Amino acid sequence: MNDPLWYKDAVIYEAHVKSFYDSNNDGIGDFNGLTQKLDYLQGLGVTCLWLLPFFPSPLKDDGYDVADYRNIHPSYGSLEDFTVFVQAAHARGLKVLIELVVNHTSDQHPWFQRARHAPAGSPERDFYVWSDTDKKFPETRIIFSDTEKSNWAWDPVAGQYYWHRFFSHQPDLNHNNPAVVDAVIDVLRFWLDLGVDALRLDAVAYLCVGEGTSNENLPETHAVLKELRARVDAHFTDKVLLAEANMQPEDVRPYFGDGDEFHMSFHFPIMPRVFMALRLEDRKPLIDIIERTPSIPDSCQWGIFLRNHDELTLEMVTEIERQYMWDEYAQDPQARINLGIRRRLAPLMEGDRRRIELMSGLLMALPGSPILYYGDEIGMGDNVYLGDRNSVRTPMQWNGGANAGFSAADPERLWLPLISNALYGYQAVNVESQQRNPTSLLNWTRRLIEVRRLTRVFGRGAIEFLKPDNHRVLAFTRTLGRESVLAVNNLAGTAQAVELDLSRFAGAIPVEMFGASKEFFVFLDGDIFLTREDIKANLLKCREHDFASAFRAICELEEDDTLRLLGNDDRWNYNGKYEPRRKKDLCDSSCIITRRGMRALGGWPETNGRTATDMSTRVEQSLKVFDSPGVARRLFHG
Ligand code: NOJ
Ligand code: CA
Repeated sequence: MNDPLWYKDAVIYEAHVKSFYDSNNDGIGDFNGLTQKLDYLQGLGVTCLWLLPFFPSPLKDDGYDVADYRNIHPSYGSLEDFTVFVQAAHARGLKVLIELVVNHTSDQHPWFQRARHAPAGSPERDFYVWSDTDKKFPETRIIFSDTEKSNWAWDPVAGQYYWHRFFSHQPDLNHNNPAVVDAVIDVLRFWLDLGVDALRLDAVAYLCVGEGTSNENLPETHAVLKELRARVDAHFTDKVLLAEANMQPEDVRPYFGDGDEFHMSFHFPIMPRVFMALRLEDRKPLIDIIERTPSIPDSCQWGIFLRNHDELTLEMVTEIERQYMWDEYAQDPQARINLGIRRRLAPLMEGDRRRIELMSGLLMALPGSPILYYGDEIGMGDNVYLGDRNSVRTPMQWNGGANAGFSAADPERLWLPLISNALYGYQAVNVESQQRNPTSLLNWTRRLIEVRRLTRVFGRGAIEFLKPDNHRVLAFTRTLGRESVLAVNNLAGTAQAVELDLSRFAGAIPVEMFGASKEFFVFLDGDIFLTREDIKANLLKCREHDFASAFRAICELEEDDTLRLLGNDDRWNYNGKYEPRRKKDLCDSSCIITRRGMRALGGWPETNGRTATDMSTRVEQSLKVFDSPGVARRLFHG
């Protein structure tokens, strides 16, 4: 973990302190509670925790309205509790990423109170952006379009309008003023000195303003950010700055500079396009955005995510695409907010485990460092009837008991009500029951993270799309040095045939990553495969190296015949133990890959009531994947 490029291999977990675990039973999660749950996070395998704002605040934007940059909101604990948390996280090898919300403050921040009382033109007043008219900067868009009609708000005390890009209670700091930048650098130093490893800079695109511009991505803003970075580099070697700039990739690219601005930046547009690709059953939206993403300096990294604490933002898609996303994923108008959708991953996937796995598999396999949103590892639901974006910020569901094990306060006292419906309620969806169940989403996610962390190829490797004729199949390789990973994803809800040209890997030995078996060649249902030893031992009709025969042999088994399988998750004892299965338990189908040039042999006749496929015609094809909505991966040793 001492590698200064640690963020390139990170698996980040975004958590809300107030929703994670309440240690003193006041209904609000706190730092002591979070510290108690670090073993859980370490067990999940994530390497970095991103915490939403926890500073003193009137909480009108859930803490993104900061009233004091150098303290902890009393509901969450004290600075001492925070320090204990950071040390405990570090002791477990976990990095800590916190928020630096300096585009704006709360109107309760002493800087603003001072500014509004100070005379116009004074250094105190100049901490914010003022105007005698609300008509200035007409080119600037409004972001919180549901609540705000203008980016200006009248302050009767100052007798002027102040500038705000978000809520009107969040005046924007004036970063054109070097005194503001100095003050912000002091804040940044304060937290880094406390041991924090990384800072997410909120709303970085809007720091500076300029007459006649959109007030976004201005050169002055980049100058400020470069100065922040230089000041970080002057004092520290392995601290990381992460940019929140909800922009197209070509507009975000300058935030990496020449490796002298941000280490990381979110890749916002990938996210809606993953959802679109899945619904359209077409890889195009996703490939398009990745291919149009400019390359970034070697020391830089994208941060990618499926869901977070905000709405699933549709700012970076076209009007038609936005309407499509709303129609498909948010029929209930209540689920829509601003230009987005306030729902969690599992309900967006209609609770379909295989789609959730596909999405999470993509999150782990696409370029960038993946960011998981708390609760999505167990498939938590949302509550779109809560205000603002609280729909996706409800308390973590630890167990099926009182208050989901989140707090011992009276249920009425919880800061937000728990999800309690029959599908996603804490009685049905919780950590404790999923820890007991080897096939749970939680255990699958844990295993997925483990596989991701086996190699640096996902964090640092190049991506190349294979583009087979069947546009419903998204296949790509990730390559770093002599190591390549092939990921094959069926975006469709039905079985798909596909032929992949893998000639460039001829002679390589495929290794299934979940099972780490070098001998595998049958891949069934995204998570089961046989070893050559299995075939020899159990399928006597199979001749060694004749996998076509092996395949036919499997097909000839009776429904109740027992196979010995080496599987890739807890169900199948991925630790290397063998588990007997019956053919009839194997539903759906997948592909066979041989070791000799990867000639494919065919598919698996479906056994769950659907028609068996005609194997004889398929055996001659070069490689086929049938119905693997889960993620198929192959690791090749060159
Ligand atoms: C971005 C944050 O993610 C969001 O939650 C917040 O409301 C805005 N910035 C304004 O601070
Ligand atoms: Ca508490």
